Amino acid sequence: MSAQVSSKQPILRGEGISKFFGGLAAVSDVDFELYPGEILGLIGPNGAGKTTVINMISGAYTPSKGRIFFKEKDITGMKPYQIAHLGISRTFQVVKPFKGMTVRENVSVGAMFGAKGRERSAKEAIEAADEVLEFVGLADMADKPADSLNVASRKRLEVAKALAMGPEVLLLDEVMAGLNFGEIDKAVELILKVRESGVTILVIEHVMRAIKAITDRIFVLRHGVKIADGPPEEVLNDEEVIKAYLGRRYKELVG
Ligand SMILES: Nc1ncnc2c1ncn2[C@@H]1O[C@H](COP(=O)(O)OP(=O)(O)OP(=O)(O)O)[C@@H](O)[C@H]1O
Ligand SMILES: [Mg+2]
Repeated sequence: MSAQVSSKQPILRGEGISKFFGGLAAVSDVDFELYPGEILGLIGPNGAGKTTVINMISGAYTPSKGRIFFKEKDITGMKPYQIAHLGISRTFQVVKPFKGMTVRENVSVGAMFGAKGRERSAKEAIEAADEVLEFVGLADMADKPADSLNVASRKRLEVAKALAMGPEVLLLDEVMAGLNFGEIDKAVELILKVRESGVTILVIEHVMRAIKAITDRIFVLRHGVKIADGPPEEVLNDEEVIKAYLGRRYKELVG
């Protein structure tokens, strides 16, 4: 773990969380901990249950079993807006910009909700949005319609909307999917900058180059079950993880 991981007390943790859809156990008895200041990677094959974990943390789904704690407060079963107010924001794997609204207006909506939203007037929300747009490097697109942006900028907008909520914990769901090499490098820079600003991050990503570059720790799901949890160099060389997800070719590529 990096030196920035300052405390042994998790800011967020899950205890035996499960989610059943009919007969399918999308997530099965998973424990996880997220420590203040760290970037925790969540990887695994398609359908492994990664997004379902974020859906349970953010309140979109109620766990079928288990408990989730934010700063030791039990948040299991709370509504998404209540969890956002506490200081947990998420992005969506399928980005959802508000159509017919500009980039600035999209981010302003984020700034009206979330941890700091209740204290803000509309004018303050717009000011907060402009600050976030500057931070993520989208300031020059503020007046453009959100649906005119390319994939990389849409993903960045998705991060901006979540950041405008003023989170302590940010949950990122594949914000690098569909990006080219140069755009991935920029996304990596942005995520590291977000962490520098004091936000703790859980990141789902298939782009292994990025996962290696940013995570302090990784946990791996397969068929809803946790099969590894540890430092990146250990997890990415784990035989079971290679067999279940990364494949031989990955090992040959990055050794
Ligand atoms: N609302 C739902 N109703 C029924 N099944 C669902 C629902 N949400 C997820 N699932 C199922 O749960 C399993 C886990 O899905 P999830 O989206 O969490 O996977 P993932 O690891 O995020 O995959 P990917 O890498 O493709 O995004 C899949 O089999 C999926 O079809
Ligand atoms: Mg997913």
